[in-house]
Amino acid sequence: MTTTTHNITTIGIIGAGQMGGGIAQIAAVAGFETTIFDAFPGAIDKCKALRGKLFGRAVEKGRMTQADADAATGRLAYSESLDSLSGSDIIIEAVVEDVAVKKELFAKAGALLGEGGILASNTSSISITDLATAVADVRGGMADRFIGMHFFNPVPVMKLVEVIKGLATSDETTARTIALAEAMGKVPVPANDRPGFVSNRVLMPLINEAFYAWMEGVAEPEHIDEIMKLGCAHPMGPLRLADFIGLDTCVHIMDVMADGLNNDRYRACPLLKQLVIAGRLGDKTGRGVFDYSKK
Ligand code: CAA
Ligand code: NAD
Repeated sequence: MTTTTHNITTIGIIGAGQMGGGIAQIAAVAGFETTIFDAFPGAIDKCKALRGKLFGRAVEKGRMTQADADAATGRLAYSESLDSLSGSDIIIEAVVEDVAVKKELFAKAGALLGEGGILASNTSSISITDLATAVADVRGGMADRFIGMHFFNPVPVMKLVEVIKGLATSDETTARTIALAEAMGKVPVPANDRPGFVSNRVLMPLINEAFYAWMEGVAEPEHIDEIMKLGCAHPMGPLRLADFIGLDTCVHIMDVMADGLNNDRYRACPLLKQLVIAGRLGDKTGRGVFDYSKK
């Protein structure tokens, strides 16, 4: 348990996809005034509808009272304008795993942040030190208040937050982020600022290898997953998990690791890349390795 207080009451989230939506949900449940922003048409409506469904299910299952669900819903605001995050005590970014897109948003978000606020990225793999250069000159420099706060999917269920300090991140920012993660009901664990950190450095090669096993005809995709579930106690097989994460995200993470670690053993399997090129991104497009269109 940490002894530092986070001093945070308002949270801004950038990106209303599966991660941003989940982070916003647990923030509101934990009592924070939360605003979530997304720039793409339909993203906010989809996020809002899913939150309604998940709160409804939590009440049905007796994990939450209707009053608590209503209160959390009341603390969660949705917006299609980045300016609505103005004055936030922390802004957590969860958009596509693309360094240029993230940096452009951080430069703007840095100018909106409340006094003494924190900027956090939910990146799966990208250097926190590099992302922090986007705000090195904003308001006299904010890289000391920039940190990696890596949640796991599905956010309401997974306990971990990987906490990554960049080269300039202050100890105070780290302590406040750890306190915040705990206040959100998560277990923060530190990892150093290396491509893929710990989680994806270990997980993604496993997923990639499953694609190679499929490509080389070692077994059918469903059998690869069945073997890893029944034989190695994985809750989801690696190919099902890749669909769940998003095949585009998996390729982005592999690219960051291959380039950042100067090692081709992290290059994405050609079959994985082919599915992404074909638009088969997994659950979010209704088809990836497996077909979800009838669900
Ligand atoms: N959002 C919120 N809650 C969800 C959910 C979602 N998307 N999906 C499942 N849940 C909840 C369900 O509501 C259910 O709770 P209740 O029974 O109380 O309603 C609970 O999770 C279990 O769900 P199910 O019974 O439907 O299914 P399950 O027992 O198979 O569990 C799972 C689903 C928790 C997702 C499980 O399969 C699992 O742990 N899979 C592995 C997930 C994993 O490895 N995540 C990490 C991905 S890597 C990452 O996140 C980092 C990165 O940078 C890529
Ligand atoms: P996603 O595709 O579900 O959602 C991304 C959201 O960002 C979309 O709603 C999109 O509209 C929005 N967006 C994209 N560009 C934007 C912009 N310029 N301005 C505003 N909004 C924009 O992706 P995701 O799975 O939620 O992943 C988001 C981040 O979280 C990535 O960095 C990813 O690596 C990381 N992450 C993903 C997982 C996972 O399992 N999917 C787990 C941990 C971390």
